[in-house]
Amino acid sequence: MEKLAIDGGEPIIKQKIPMVVPYFDEKEIDSVVETIKSTWISSNGKKGKELEEKMCKYLGVNHTILVNNCTSALHLALMILGIKSGNVLVPDYTFTSTGLAPILVNASPKLVDVEYDTANIEVNQIERSIDSNTKCIIPVHYAGHPCEMDSINRIANENEIFVVEDAAQALGSEYKGRKAGTLSDIGCFSFHAVKNITCGEGGAIVTNDDKLAEKAVIMRDKGTNKAAFNIHQNTGFYDYVSEGHNFMLSEILAAVALEQFKKIDKITELRRKNADYMVKELKKLNNPKIILPTVKNYANTNWHLFPIKFKGDVNWFSKAMNAEGITANIHYVPLHLTTLYKKYGYKEGDFPNAERVFNSMVRLPMHPGLTKEDMDNIVKAVEKVAR
Ligand SMILES: Cc1ncc(COP(=O)(O)O)c(C=O)c1O
Repeated sequence: MEKLAIDGGEPIIKQKIPMVVPYFDEKEIDSVVETIKSTWISSNGKKGKELEEKMCKYLGVNHTILVNNCTSALHLALMILGIKSGNVLVPDYTFTSTGLAPILVNASPKLVDVEYDTANIEVNQIERSIDSNTKCIIPVHYAGHPCEMDSINRIANENEIFVVEDAAQALGSEYKGRKAGTLSDIGCFSFHAVKNITCGEGGAIVTNDDKLAEKAVIMRDKGTNKAAFNIHQNTGFYDYVSEGHNFMLSEILAAVALEQFKKIDKITELRRKNADYMVKELKKLNNPKIILPTVKNYANTNWHLFPIKFKGDVNWFSKAMNAEGITANIHYVPLHLTTLYKKYGYKEGDFPNAERVFNSMVRLPMHPGLTKEDMDNIVKAVEKVAR
């Protein structure tokens, strides 16, 4: 039997295959140069406006408001909903930002267990967690796979609470033919370096509600009504009309994000093509130790991530894959097992599915630039390590 690289054998590939590579070309570079030369570099510029318009059209929403990252988007969403206390339901298996949003507005994150297959928030558990103090649910479309939004919205309506989608990973994904991030009161997106479209750091909130949008435009801009008159004319003055924050996206970053967004269909198509190939080849291994990603029949995912599950020691599996030259990461530590959430009284054993996901899930490389050779090497490494 071929010796594993982790035990001193030859790796499958010497030049490591990275988890993700941004899909850039000269267009992003030209756009940045043009913006810098124009000297309009802060925010509220033409490229940012064009991106907001393009996102509205693509997503089929009335308002897109750019911000400096998705952590800010989630924070801003709760600010404009006027949430200042009470509980906000958050899946236990997510990135820290989802739980930070309620903390930042003086509300409390109330953790909810997830489905073992998709790692998305579990609808029955939401029903069990709601009480008279609950203000909002923040479902996360993990890995780009949409949550069961009809059920979540039904529960929210029955209990008169808000829904904010954490769609940081889900730009381009669809739930029953409708775009993720547009299925609730507010959707929040990320343009972080690892996301499907990126400008390094960036984000947006989207909504169909005119009043919420108006508040968002003011509150992202330090509580000013700057946007209400034509700042390009430099006449008149603006007022400080509410509390707020500085969540503005620089025009230099908007210039990158705009060019990226023009490629959204291409990027999504390439990811879907690559994921289909990986699924097909991994299936052929017919290895009971490997569980492939679930795609529910209502979902059309953007394949932001390609997470598989390994039945065995997942830490060892990820180390062994890395030794073979394939980046393979264990993803989130469930929130309840982290230091911050001990403060809220959570402890090991509270969320069994999230713990099972954590103890089995490994992310393999997924991005538009993966070649057939890269994917064949990834599959070969899985075959070798999971034997
Ligand atoms: C589910 C989820 N929510 C929120 C965020 C925060 O996004 P950002 O890095 O743009 O603040 C991320 C980013 O990794 C994420 O994956």
